[in-house]
Amino acid sequence: MKYQLNINYQLFPTTDSLNEEEKGLLEKALSVCVDAYAPYSKFKVGASVLLGNGQVIIGSNQENIAYPSGLCAERVALFHCGSNYPNETVEVLCIVAKGNLLPVDRLLSPCGGCRQVMVEVEERQKQPFKVIIVSQDGRVLIFERAKDLLPFVFGSL
Ligand code: THU
Repeated sequence: MKYQLNINYQLFPTTDSLNEEEKGLLEKALSVCVDAYAPYSKFKVGASVLLGNGQVIIGSNQENIAYPSGLCAERVALFHCGSNYPNETVEVLCIVAKGNLLPVDRLLSPCGGCRQVMVEVEERQKQPFKVIIVSQDGRVLIFERAKDLLPFVFGSL
């Protein structure tokens, strides 16, 4: 049998498409991105999370000379939320990056490990959250649920 999956997402040419709350999240992600610890890849990533109580949690990638010991910005932010605000829902995750590891005109997208973690946050809170990704050229990708970024996620088939 053949099956087909449709993935819904929005793509906008500029950040003008974001509302005021989303622009605030973007500002916070950009501000934490500057302080990422990325001496090896020189690719700095910033993530901001809007919680159900209105608080914004931020995280940046943290590298290590033993490469696999480092952690992506999205997981730094989401694990901070899970540790410190276990009863708050994640409503929105905003991701930005700066660096030459990827051509600046290429769309940014979170790694597979972060997507796996994002989906489990949705499952844990029994509620999807919006993912806003702003690429270095200013284009904006929006997913209404993290699961749309990883449909065949490990553990939920
Ligand atoms: N990185 C993130 O922070 N998030 C992702 O989704 C992909 C990659 C980090 C990991 C590493 O510090 C650097 O970007 C280069 O891969």
